Amino acid sequence: MEHLQLRITSIRQETAESKTFVVEEINKRNIEYKAGQFVTLLVTLNNKEIRRSYSISSTPGVDNDFFFTIKRIENGELSRFLFDELKVGDIIISLPPSGRFIIEKPESEVAVFIAAGSGITPVFSLIKHLLHNFPRTKVLLINQNHSEKNSIFRNDLFLLKEKFKLNFSLTEIFSQPEDYKKPSQRLNNNLLERILLQHITNSSVKFYLCGPESFMRMAQFTLKVMKYSQDFIRRENFFATAPPPPLMTDKTPHRVTIYYHNKKYNIEVAYPQNILEVALKHHIQLPFSCRGGRCSTCTARCTSGSVKMTINDVLTPTDLQEGLILTCVSYPETDLELTFTPAGMEEKIL
Ligand SMILES: Cc1cc2nc3c(=O)[nH]c(=O)nc-3n(C[C@H](O)[C@H](O)[C@H](O)COP(=O)(O)OP(=O)(O)OC[C@H]3O[C@@H](n4cnc5c(N)ncnc54)[C@H](O)[C@@H]3O)c2cc1C
Ligand code: FES
Repeated sequence: MEHLQLRITSIRQETAESKTFVVEEINKRNIEYKAGQFVTLLVTLNNKEIRRSYSISSTPGVDNDFFFTIKRIENGELSRFLFDELKVGDIIISLPPSGRFIIEKPESEVAVFIAAGSGITPVFSLIKHLLHNFPRTKVLLINQNHSEKNSIFRNDLFLLKEKFKLNFSLTEIFSQPEDYKKPSQRLNNNLLERILLQHITNSSVKFYLCGPESFMRMAQFTLKVMKYSQDFIRRENFFATAPPPPLMTDKTPHRVTIYYHNKKYNIEVAYPQNILEVALKHHIQLPFSCRGGRCSTCTARCTSGSVKMTINDVLTPTDLQEGLILTCVSYPETDLELTFTPAGMEEKIL
């Protein structure tokens, strides 16, 4: 996968802890992407390569610039460095945009986004995409933050609300609001159910969640109790820890044939190693980011054979039927053949 070299052309402070970085490809080539996708930055710190993904907060066809937004995590290895050190003119290396938290064409009359904190970044991009391109789709955003001043893109969201009065509803929830007239609250099952019952009178609805794991679990559980099918819920998970391998008795090595960038590779993968791990050991530079089954950067298509996946937070039932797998959490059950195209760039998702 060809890496991108991105030059920072401007930096906008969004909140005390978050900044938006506007970048251009160093040869001013167009960067192809879809609303809701992310870039994976490759930074070498202390002689070690660190990879972290950042959702693209701009929207193709709506924003002229290409930008992403980084929240500084107090003890974070890379976000702290990027937030504190990056300046205009710096060049950073990135994998091309990827990710499956995208909406090619709305398949519901209402799109409900439930976001918390920096989880607003891909959501912001998707909301602009829907409002500008699909005037018949109603968009509801439920956005949880500590306070007004911590709320990333708050002004932009208000501008969108003003511009798309009939199509866009915004419900803000603050745990520590500065405005004393506003309630201090956190999104919980009851509150979420109340908001949804107030706003949704239509059964044609899809949900898009992005925020801390516990926040998304709560939202997913509430939707389940409200009898919404899990197939109508999409999630983008920012934090992933590598899950342990699944329980498998078959420890015999399986032959994995990989077709990647017009080359063919053969490797042997035996439990408890996963496919990505072994490929990287053989210096096959397959794409990856989280290594925890959450981001989809490592997606491959299994054209023959089968795997066991420990976790899958991103591939839909249709994706699975079509043979897509996440190599970072896949363990061969048979000999396999894999092909690669950039995640999110193959076919329609929803
Ligand atoms: C698909 C995807 C899209 C992402 N998009 C964005 C984005 O648009 N903007 C953005 O700021 N981040 C985004 N992230 C998260 C980002 O990739 C990093 O995980 C984040 O910047 C922390 O990296 P770090 O090296 O600073 O922290 P690490 O050194 O990896 O982690 C330090 C500690 O902080 C915790 N932690 C990590 N991130 C957070 C957080 N956000 N809030 C609270 N605790 C945290 C970790 O669990 C760990 O305990 C995204 C992640 C993924 C997988
Ligand atoms: S690298 Fe993120 S899902 Fe595999």
